[in-house]
Order: sequence, then C-alpha cells, then structure tokens
Amino acid sequence: MKRIAVLTSGGDAPGMNAAIRAVVRSGHYHGLEVYGVYRGYSGLIEGNIHRLDLGSVGDIIHRGGTILQSARCEEFKTEEGRKRAIGHLRAHGIDGVVVIGGDGSFRGALKLCEAGIPAIGVPGTIDNDIPGTDFTIGFDTAVNTVIDCIDKIRDTATSHDRTFVIEVMGRDAGDIALWAGLAGGAESIIIPEEPDSLDEVVERLKRGVQRGKKHSIIIVAEGVASGAEVAARVRKATGWETRVTVLGHVQRGGTPTAFDRVLAGRMGSKAVEWLLQGKHSLMTAIRNGEIIGVELKTALSQKHSPAMELHGLAKILSI
Ligand code: ADP
Ligand code: F6P
Repeated sequence: MKRIAVLTSGGDAPGMNAAIRAVVRSGHYHGLEVYGVYRGYSGLIEGNIHRLDLGSVGDIIHRGGTILQSARCEEFKTEEGRKRAIGHLRAHGIDGVVVIGGDGSFRGALKLCEAGIPAIGVPGTIDNDIPGTDFTIGFDTAVNTVIDCIDKIRDTATSHDRTFVIEVMGRDAGDIALWAGLAGGAESIIIPEEPDSLDEVVERLKRGVQRGKKHSIIIVAEGVASGAEVAARVRKATGWETRVTVLGHVQRGGTPTAFDRVLAGRMGSKAVEWLLQGKHSLMTAIRNGEIIGVELKTALSQKHSPAMELHGLAKILSI
C-alpha cells in the first residue's frame, strides 16, 4: 500500500476535519501518499482528487464542516457511475480509501470493496444512527449545541411562564433529542423510537401544572412530528401560550467538542492502520471507550437503537 485517499460524504458533521487530519497525518507518518477526494462520491466520479501534504490539514482541527466538502451523489449508486469513479482511483494509483460519512456512504464504501478497492468507513454524522458504535463523530458537538440553545430558551420560558417546543434533527433516530433533552432538563422528549408519546406528553404537562409547574420545555425529534404540530396539539389540549423553535442546521455546524476531536483522531488513524494491515470492509467503532472494527455489512444490516434507558431516566428526573 503506497497511496490512500480520504473523502467525506453525506451530511457534514463537526469533527470531520479532525478525522481528515488524522488520516492525512497518520498516512504520512506511515510513509504513505495521501489524496483528498473533493465533494464525496461526486468528486470520485469527476476525478476531483488532489494530493494532501502535511500542511494541507494544518489549522483545521477546530473547524466544523469538511474542507473536502461533501455531497450526495445518485450517480454513484449506478454501475456506470462507479466504473468511472474506480477508473479515476486506478489512474491515481490509489490502493485504499477512507470514507467518512453515514450509513449511505458506507453502502458506497462496500461497493468499492466489492470492486477490489479496499475501503474503511469512519462514522461521521450528528444523528448517531449507525449500528455497532456507541458514538459517531459530530454527535457530541450537536448535542452540546442543542443544550446551549435549550439553556437560552429556558431563560424566556421562566421569565414569561411559557411552554416551548424545540424541534431538533434526527429523521429516524432520537439520539440528539434524548441526550440533549436529558442534559437540558426538558420536561418531555419525543423520539421516533416511541412515536405514540404525544398523548403522554400532554398528560405529563397537565400533571406538572397541577403540581405548580409554570413553564415547560418539550424536545421533539423532526422524524416524529414538526415542532409546530406538537405546539398546536399542546395549545389545543391546554390552552397555554406555546412557542416553537426549530433549530435546524445550526446543529450541523460549529467547533467540534474535545470528545469529537479525540474520537475523530482515534478513528481516522485506526482506519489508516487497518488499510496498511490489508484490512477492508470495516467500520471504526467505539464501544465502551475502545476503538474496535465492525464489518460494514454487519453494521448496515442491523437497526440502530438509542440508549432507551435515558428516556425513562429523563421522565423520572423531570417529574
Ligand atoms: P449518509 O452517508 O449521511 O447516510 P446518504 O444516505 O445521503 O448520507 O448517502 C451518501 C451517499 O452515499 C449517497 O449520495 C450515494 O452517493 C452513496 N450511497 C448511498 N447508498 C448507496 C448504495 N446503495 N450504493 C452506492 N452508493 C451509495
Ligand atoms: O446529517 C443528518 C441530518 O442532519 C438529519 O438529521 C437531517 O434530517 C438531515 O441531515 C438534513 O440534511 P440535508 O439538509 O443535508 O438534506
């Protein structure tokens, strides 16, 4: 193995830059040439591939987003598109690829492996929705961004005795809502994994008021319902003044936390080690604090489940 490439694909996540830096620096440390593919699989198809020297990843460890940019690329799902991509990899003499992204990106990485190009996946998504790993790069930062917002909104909720509904990201996964809701002391957390909880939310709110609560914060993951829908439901059932905040893409950007930077460093360099050892079709995962390898096929065939015990705990602590 002499040359490797790194790309970021799917939704960007804070810490992706730290992961790119880890791949480049570890690659150079082991005597490899490292190439960056710009704009994910689109860049691979277009041949948008450039050498990354040690200096090219200087001053990026603290930056959100991805210097390599990211994209969603339907063409890579076709045989024809992948043929072009693989042609460019071969023309550059690239012997292995590190794919930083989510589950869709890993399906693409598996296709590369099937075509004889060793690839390793590094989980980078704020959603934390990849089976087999306790955490994905970007999740911790997104949760901290949400907590920061909840704390600010709580000031107004308290000052005006108002109920607030905060809509957070997570199409299919409730992890952001769950962790941020627990850490932010939300009264109710609505997640896709327990979609029937809307009625319960209203009941809890009413019980809270009976006990003297004057304001409440409800966190809803976008995959269940919109913040506006939840607020309308609460208004209808209680008649309370209810405001909505949709956090949207502020959750995707920003300076990565120390946790995400360290995770990115550990996973990025492990991916390079594995390529050097002739390994492929693996995803770097963190379990109980240790970086381990999980077969991409296994990760993609399982269903992600958030730490559901946190939901029960949040209900007890926000009584
Ligand atoms: P994420 O990686 O965050 O889950 P997407 O699901 O949008 O994001 O996937 C990112 C990209 O991965 C897609 O735009 C496509 O280029 C590639 N991809 C997804 N699924 C496949 C597949 N079955 N075969 C080949 N490439 C795929
Ligand atoms: O990266 C995951 C995610 O943030 C989801 O939670 C969200 O629904 C989606 O991406 C939005 O992505 P985009 O705006 O890039 O389509």
